Amino acid sequence: MPASAWWVCGFLPLLAAAAAAADPAKGSWEPLIRLPTEKGDTPAPAPAAAAAEDGVTKWAVLVAGSSGYGNYRHQADVCHAYQILRKGGLKEENIVVFMYDDIAKNDLNPRPGVIINHPKGEDVYAGVPKDYTGKQVTAENFFAVLLGNKTAVTGGSRKVINSKSKDHIFIYYADHGGPGVLGMPNRPYIYAGDFIKVLREKHASKSYSKMIIYVEACESGSIFEGLLPEDLNIYVTTASNAVENSWGAYCPGMKSSPPAEYDTCLGDIYSVSWMEDSETHNLKKETLKQQYEVVKTRTSKSMEFDKGSHVMEYGDKTFKDEKLFLYQGFDPANSNVANRLLLPDLEGAINQRDADVLFMWKRYEKLNGGLEEKQRVLREIKETVVHRKHLDSSIDFIGKLVFGFENGPSMIEAARSSGQPLVDDWDCLKRTVRVFESQCGSLTQYGMKHMRAFANMCNNGISEAEMREASISACGGYGSAKWSPLAVGHSA
Ligand SMILES: *[C@@H]1O[C@H](CO)[C@@H](O)[C@H](O)[C@H]1NC(C)=O
Repeated sequence: MPASAWWVCGFLPLLAAAAAAADPAKGSWEPLIRLPTEKGDTPAPAPAAAAAEDGVTKWAVLVAGSSGYGNYRHQADVCHAYQILRKGGLKEENIVVFMYDDIAKNDLNPRPGVIINHPKGEDVYAGVPKDYTGKQVTAENFFAVLLGNKTAVTGGSRKVINSKSKDHIFIYYADHGGPGVLGMPNRPYIYAGDFIKVLREKHASKSYSKMIIYVEACESGSIFEGLLPEDLNIYVTTASNAVENSWGAYCPGMKSSPPAEYDTCLGDIYSVSWMEDSETHNLKKETLKQQYEVVKTRTSKSMEFDKGSHVMEYGDKTFKDEKLFLYQGFDPANSNVANRLLLPDLEGAINQRDADVLFMWKRYEKLNGGLEEKQRVLREIKETVVHRKHLDSSIDFIGKLVFGFENGPSMIEAARSSGQPLVDDWDCLKRTVRVFESQCGSLTQYGMKHMRAFANMCNNGISEAEMREASISACGGYGSAKWSPLAVGHSA
């Protein structure tokens, strides 16, 4: 039925619809008289008339999963996405934004009140609604918003995706990730098992017809690999496959670098690739598939994968020939762009996990005078690097304890073949993470890369007691209060 119901997704002005209504090939009629929406709250039609004249409302959820100036790029990506959707005619009331909102007014921001997502880019911050900011940016709120459950939301604007059966939903997420997890600025993280459960629930509630999900994060393929069913009417693309990094873009010192006053990356490769593609195409002509191909090529560095990643697709691939405007809207200003390409190459990107250390070093190098300040930044770099080494070595040690000295390293790193989920028992994964963090300190956004080690312990039947004992042996007495889960919360 969805494939033949051309009017559900069609975009036709009323008069044209009348003329075209009797499409003999399709045999269905566009209803010309529409009832006001249930609540009678229809505002004045947007100029682009992207509103629900065919009974389809376009919704979007935009999530920046990080905080901190060193992660500038994720919030910049999300603000930029908001501007594209608004220009495309989506209404503010139908777009829910999650961002920590600590960038624009950050002391380190060289352009106070402004966020850019491209070296020559304009401000993308102005007008972005503060739906869920600061402490409200949580996995729990994200799920509640998506499910349209206002009661389950804590704080924020309480805007939710109150979508109906014909509606379209676009979800875009940008941040750090790891096998099976997506970061959030407040713990716990988003676990793939929970996310897929929520998507199933949303589908069961019959409150959308089609959904598109774009995810930028390291190992983002692992969120869907072997997990997302093909019958939920959800089409997904991810920045990377299940076992690799995704990459920042417009980073200091790189070929397409930000203006000199910026010490931080302005965007991420996959993210700026889809957005710059959307901005330079007529989205009534370009299909989901075409965008996927463009983004795949650009993100993979023309398939050379030198500091690039494999853009993946998951879920229902039967509607890839649909036009992008059905999800992202249509900006009339782009109606005559003949798919012009002004995409600079993104040579010399930096992987997500090193971007924050790069940021600290750039800051350190730039600080002149202020010996005390320099030493503070240097101490911060050192603490971060030491904690990373501690995480790496304790996981290695625990692996050897539970799997044996010879097998440990290969057992904790073993990736399941494609089509298989990271882990079978998600609760076991969460328990194992908590046990580890209690003894060894917070995984941090860097340590998310070790999720596969915990998953493999669960997949191989390592008990919680064994895991605890091994963690105590590896980390007993690890005394860094800064990284204590008591201070920062558990990741699971
Ligand atoms: C919404 O969330 C509340 C609180 O978590 C829960 O009790 C309720 O069952 C949810 N409603 C629906 C319709 O799922």
